[in-house]
Parts: sequence; C-alpha cells; structure tokens
Amino acid sequence: MPAAEHSPGRRAGHRPRTVVVIADRIDREGRHVSVVKINVLTVSEEMRAELEKRFAGRAGLVESADGFEHFELLRPVEGTDRYMVYTRWRSEEDFERWTQSQAFQRGHAEAARDAERAGGQGHGHGHGGPAAGAAELWSFEVVQEADPKPASG
Ligand code: HEM
Repeated sequence: MPAAEHSPGRRAGHRPRTVVVIADRIDREGRHVSVVKINVLTVSEEMRAELEKRFAGRAGLVESADGFEHFELLRPVEGTDRYMVYTRWRSEEDFERWTQSQAFQRGHAEAARDAERAGGQGHGHGHGGPAAGAAELWSFEVVQEADPKPASG
C-alpha cells in the first residue's frame, strides 16, 4: 500500500478514514510468521466419545475470528493418549483477541458448564470438567511450511 494511503484524507470530499494496523511478525527473510497454539486435552477413555461429540457440534465461530488460519482436532493413536486441538493464527495478538472474545466463550459454553458442575474449580473454560480432565496450552512459531506442488501436466 502506498504511504499516502496511511494518512487519513483531509482533502475536500475525503472523509477521514480509520486505519487498522494489523500486528504481523516478519522473519529475517521478510516472510510472515504464523503462530501455532495447541490445546492439549487429557480425556479419560469413557469421555473420548463425548469429547468428539462436543467438537462435532462445536459452535463453528473460530472460523470467523480475525487472523484465524487453521483448526484441527487430533485424536491420539500412538505415542500419547492426549487429544490436541491444533489452531494456527496470523499473530499472537489475533490468538489473544480470540481467547478474550465472546466467540471463544460461546465456543466453550458446554465446557464451561462442565467446569461449574465439577464444583467451580475451573478457570472459566472447562478445567476439571468431565469432557476434558485437564488442559495445557502449547505455543509455537512456524519456522517452515510446505504444501504439495500442484500436479504438472
Ligand atoms: C482451558 C481449557 C480448555 C478446555 C477444557 C477446552 C475444551 C473444549 C471443548 C470440550 C470444546 C467443544 C465445545 C464445548 O464443549 O464447549 C472446545 C472447543 C474449542 N476449543 Fe477449547 N478448551 C479449552 C481452551 C482452549 C484453548 C486455549 C484453545 C486454543 C487453541 C481452544 C481451542 C478450541 C477451539 C478452536 C474450539 C472450537 C470452537 C468453535 O468451533 O468456535 N480451547 N474446547
């Protein structure tokens, strides 16, 4: 965007505009650095089907969050018995904004009710609830990524 675009227009016929600056990390080669946030859930054997059912009926609000890039629910097969909720974001700020949003609260409404039923030991998003015994947040920066090459021919 040319520099002039950043200054709200004051000329006749130009209304001042609000300029939104998006926090974005750039690496040394000038590439954008996404962040990965993985919520690691300990789920008892009996609650696995329930957890997957919850996610099958999830709010679907995260898709509309600003800076959201990707989500996957990962079911453990070998090496761990913990589920992972993989999310990728344009920036740390975008992720934090989402966790503080109503969309996050609504996306965790059921999990929050679980926590209340479990005696209010939670932190508002479901710690101690029946669907997930415990939750741990892991954070990463994307160093490299690749997609398959388009088929030639
Ligand atoms: C604090 C502990 C947390 C627990 C126990 C938990 C558990 C759950 C559960 C059970 C659901 C299914 C919906 C429901 O039952 O309400 C859900 C939704 C979701 N969780 Fe969490 N969660 C926690 C925090 C987080 C964090 C920090 C992230 C960030 C990676 C995250 C990512 C998501 C996403 C993306 C959805 C789907 C929301 C949507 O569709 O809009 N959760 N979580």
